[in-house]
Amino acid sequence: MPDSASSIKESSSHQSPTNQPENTSAREQWSSRMVFILAATGSAVGLGNIWKFPYITGENGGGAFVLVYLLCIASIGVPIMMAEVMLGRRGRNDPVTTMKKLARESGHSRAWGLLGWMGVIAGFLILSYYSVIAGWAMAYVPFMASGTFNGLDAAGVNTVFSDLVSHPETLIFWHTSFLFLTMLVVARGVRGGLEKAVTYLMPLLFALLIILIFYAIDTGAFQKGVAYLFTPDFSKLTTEGILSAMGHAFFTLSLGMGAIMVYGSYLPAKTSIAKASFAVAFMDTMVALMAGLIIFPIVFANSLEPSAGPGLIFKTLPLAFGQMDYGALFGTLFFILLVFAAWTSSISLIEPAITWGMKTFQISRVKMAVFAGIFVWLSGLLTVFSFNLTSDLTITSTISTQYGEFVILKNATAFDFLDYLTSNIMLPLGGLMIAIYAGWLMKKEYSRDELDISRAMYALWLFLVRFIAPLMVVVVFLNAMGVVAFIRTIMGV
Ligand code: PHE
Repeated sequence: MPDSASSIKESSSHQSPTNQPENTSAREQWSSRMVFILAATGSAVGLGNIWKFPYITGENGGGAFVLVYLLCIASIGVPIMMAEVMLGRRGRNDPVTTMKKLARESGHSRAWGLLGWMGVIAGFLILSYYSVIAGWAMAYVPFMASGTFNGLDAAGVNTVFSDLVSHPETLIFWHTSFLFLTMLVVARGVRGGLEKAVTYLMPLLFALLIILIFYAIDTGAFQKGVAYLFTPDFSKLTTEGILSAMGHAFFTLSLGMGAIMVYGSYLPAKTSIAKASFAVAFMDTMVALMAGLIIFPIVFANSLEPSAGPGLIFKTLPLAFGQMDYGALFGTLFFILLVFAAWTSSISLIEPAITWGMKTFQISRVKMAVFAGIFVWLSGLLTVFSFNLTSDLTITSTISTQYGEFVILKNATAFDFLDYLTSNIMLPLGGLMIAIYAGWLMKKEYSRDELDISRAMYALWLFLVRFIAPLMVVVVFLNAMGVVAFIRTIMGV
C-alpha cells in the first residue's frame, strides 16, 4: 500500500518554504498521510465492495450500471471526499459540532449542524444491517473450515445459505458477535491496533482476491463475466439503477455521513487531502472491480442468476472454494478477511455517533459505546427478521404519473427499506450538503488553504463541488421521482 500512496505524483505547488521538509519532518508527514489513508481505506473497503457491489450490479444488469457507478466515483465521489475530509480537518470535532463551528466561522446558520445529525443517524441505521450481513460472513468461517462446501453443487450451496438465513436465532448470534467486536474497539478508542490490522490484512485480502481471479479465469466463463461487467447495455439501465449506482458511490467511499469527516479531523495540518482521497478511492474501486471479476464468471459458469440479490456472494464463492485445491483453507481465510474488512468499516460507521454522544451527554466513551451498541443491536433485529419471520412483510411504493410509472421500492423488506433510505437518500443528501457547503459557503481562502493544491486542480475541484456534484445528485433524485420525465414531456423532448 505505501507504493500506491507514494506513487501518486506530488502536485502540490504551494508548499510554503518555511515548511520545506528536512528529512525527518518529511518522513513524519508521509507517515501521517499513510495513517489517514489506512484508516480511511479501512472504512471504505468493506462489505460494500465485496458483498454489495456484485449483487446490485447483478440486479441492475451489469455494464451500464458499472459505468454509471464509475462515473459517480470520479465526478462526485472524489471531489466530495476531498470536501468532507477538509471540513473534518478544519472543524476537528464530531460532525455536528464541526458543521456548527464552520458555519459560524463563515457567518452561516447553525442549522448546518443538522447535516452532522443526519450523518449520525445514517451511520447508526447502516450499522444495524451491516452488522447482520457481517454476521453472515462470520458464520461462513466455520462452514468453510469444516469443509461444508467441499464438492457441493450450486443447489447444495444454496441450501446452506437459505438454511442460515431462515434461522433468526443463528443470525442473532452472529449479529451479536460482530456488533460486540465493533463496540469493543469503539469503546477502547484504539486506533493503533486497527491501523496495524489494516496494514497487514488489506494486502492479504488483495492477494486472495488475485488468487480468486485466477480461479475465475479457470472457470471458462471469464470472458462472459468481463463482458457482463464492462460492456454497457443501456437498455438495462433504469432510473432506479442510476439512483442506486450513485447511492453506492457514496456508500462504498463511506461518504455523506460524517465517517470520513471524523477521520479527517485526526489528519495533521499539512498532509495532502487530494492525494489521500485519490489513493483511497482508487483502492476502493479496485477491490470492488476485482470482486466483480471473481463473482460473475462463477455465476455464468454455474448457470446461476446474476440477480440473486443479497445472497449472491454467499451462493457463488463457496462453489469456487469447494472446487479448488486448498479451498477450505483459502475459503476460511477469505471470510476471516471479509469480516476484518467489515469490522474496520463498522467502526467508522458508529464513530460519528460516539463522538457526538460523548460530547452531548457528557459521558465516557465506554458508556456511549454500550448505549449505542444496545440501540444498534435492537434495530438490527429488523434486518434479521427480514430474511425469515417477516420476509413477507414488504412494501411497494410507486409514483404513477401520466408520464410513466416510477418504482421507488418494490417488494421491499425492512432490510431493503433501510438500505434504500440510507444509501440512496441519506448519503447522497448528506454529500450534496457537504458539496454545497464546501463549494459555495465556505470562504474560498479557507478551502484553498486547506486543500493546498495547484491552481488548476483547485479550479477543477471547485467546479466539481459547485456544479457537477450537486447537479448530478439533484438530477438523479428528480429523475428517480419522475420529475425529469415530466419536464421532458412538457417540453416535448
Ligand atoms: N464504505 C463501507 C463499505 O463499503 C461502508 C460504510 C458506509 C462505512 C458509510 C462508513 C460509512 O463497506
